[in-house]
Amino acid sequence: MSEAALAPFAWAVPKPYSRETMPPTTSGDAFVKWMVANRGESPHFLRQRFSRYQTLVANGDVLDDRNKRAFLLTPREEFTLEHHQGRAYDHAYLDIGFGVTISGPHVVSRMTSTIDVKMGEKVLEIGMGSGYQSAYLANLTDKVWTIEIIKPLAERTRGVYDALIARGYTEYTAITSKNADGYHGWQEAGPFDKIVVTCGIDHVPPPLLQQLATGGIMVIPVGPPGAQRLLKIIKEQAADNTIKVARSDMYGGRIVPFVPFTKLDGEAIKGTHNQR
Ligand SMILES: C[S@@+](CC[C@H](N)C(=O)[O-])C[C@H]1O[C@@H](n2cnc3c(N)ncnc32)[C@H](O)[C@@H]1O
Repeated sequence: MSEAALAPFAWAVPKPYSRETMPPTTSGDAFVKWMVANRGESPHFLRQRFSRYQTLVANGDVLDDRNKRAFLLTPREEFTLEHHQGRAYDHAYLDIGFGVTISGPHVVSRMTSTIDVKMGEKVLEIGMGSGYQSAYLANLTDKVWTIEIIKPLAERTRGVYDALIARGYTEYTAITSKNADGYHGWQEAGPFDKIVVTCGIDHVPPPLLQQLATGGIMVIPVGPPGAQRLLKIIKEQAADNTIKVARSDMYGGRIVPFVPFTKLDGEAIKGTHNQR
């Protein structure tokens, strides 16, 4: 699985990336025309992206213009394996090799909208995987850190970003990545305004809570294996100056299963960080 081919794309982005521009969304045709002229992407995938966008908006998965733009400008087909490319915009998670997955577009959009990223904020992602979520985040802020525990996957995804940057996707220079166990966060780079965790665990890792800035928001799948609920966690300072942590369920109690939050033991991945 690990050697499965990534999609082969070669064109360069025709116009420089600008954080000010928003593609038109009045119609699919207008969107595709603008994207072909400005980003040089394939009309085939652009039509699928626009159709998925319309569903995400209808379902309340993307909540504001910044997130709408981030979804529309992120070429999900670049982050899938070649044999899954035709399903890049399906309402589904997909295998990306190494026994892990790229989350469905609805989950990525909902999680990213929930942390409400503003330009200049520092965001940490635990579980880089295919790189899609951090690519999406790079359209919202110029400061993204992401950690992946599977070394060859971390290297493959770094290669995907570097190749995309070379082709003109300069927004991805915002992403700093490393291969490590994300349970411990990224102390030297913190504190973070926002944290997004994309692997499931039965508790909130204390180092991540500690590295979340006061006023910050984290989204994290918490629960027993295969039966997590997506929690939104806000770290607040109370009137008496104590730190309070408010939790709410992003999907009103619905189970959203994620791949496990695994553990690094020396160089090897052994078991998970679950406490029970
Ligand atoms: C749902 S998948 C990837 C989703 C990813 N955000 C994307 O856009 O493709 C979750 C990822 O978390 C990684 N992971 C699991 N435990 C981890 C840990 N302790 N530290 C860092 N990454 C971890 C997995 O290897 C997997 O790649």
